[in-house]
Amino acid sequence: MSTFKGKSVLVLGGSRGIGAAIVRRFAADGATVTFTYAGSQDAAQQLATETGSTAVFTDSANRDAVISRVRDSGPLDILVVNAGIAIFGDALDQDPDAIDRLFQINIQAPYHASVEAARQMPEGGRIIVIGSVNGDRMPVPGMASYAVSKSALQGLARGLARDFGPRGITINVVQPGPVDTDANPENGPMRDLLHSFMAIKRHGRPEEVAGMVAWLAGPEAGFVTGAMHTIDGAFGA
Ligand SMILES: NC(=O)c1ccc[n+]([C@@H]2O[C@H](COP(=O)([O-])OP(=O)(O)OC[C@H]3O[C@@H](n4cnc5c(N)ncnc54)[C@H](OP(=O)(O)O)[C@@H]3O)[C@@H](O)[C@H]2O)c1
Repeated sequence: MSTFKGKSVLVLGGSRGIGAAIVRRFAADGATVTFTYAGSQDAAQQLATETGSTAVFTDSANRDAVISRVRDSGPLDILVVNAGIAIFGDALDQDPDAIDRLFQINIQAPYHASVEAARQMPEGGRIIVIGSVNGDRMPVPGMASYAVSKSALQGLARGLARDFGPRGITINVVQPGPVDTDANPENGPMRDLLHSFMAIKRHGRPEEVAGMVAWLAGPEAGFVTGAMHTIDGAFGA
């Protein structure tokens, strides 16, 4: 496939899980792909070797490092912001610094990366942020900070779509439901509870999310912006 031949892609948080599937998809479709990692250097190097992409260390909790990474990547055709974390537990017991770090990774990095990318992005550029169906629906206690962060991405896409639309740049949020990754393994303790909320009673596959990202990044999606795209087996329905 050569859908993205000649296109420059940056994936923030590409070493594992959904991000790695996105890296694989764009590389297979001919793009020149750079991705960031923070904690998983070995996995990142392996993925880079496997796909012919470039792995670079950038901690998404470091705002200035994220801005520099995007700026130094030059004009990007496609930016995907995938890096995200969750913190579970009673809101009354949680460390405020840990919650602020979650907001830095899940909200501030997507905002600043998107704005920085748009400075150099050519017409037809695409910005895709990985949110969550938990931005729409949070059916369990203990994950309010995560829900806050994924709802915030909805405002990010709606607002920046207005800023960048006149230049032909789109920005969209992909909102997965449960997807089988290290963060949410299908065989984990949450399996039955999560599946009880769903019409299709299985976890999604990272490749399924990558397929939606590729469509949004492709030539058929030029009129799609400021929108949330849920892929969740009807978790949120
Ligand atoms: N899996 C699900 O059920 C699900 C559902 C809805 C939404 N999502 C969203 O999908 C995205 C990916 O989730 P996942 O399930 O693939 O998670 P994962 O398996 O835990 O992988 C997370 C990825 O994000 C990177 N990352 C995390 N913190 C980072 C930081 N500070 N700086 C740079 N990179 C960082 C990790 O890189 P390192 O290991 O190198 O640090 C890794 O590549 C997240 O935004 C998540 O909220 C996941």
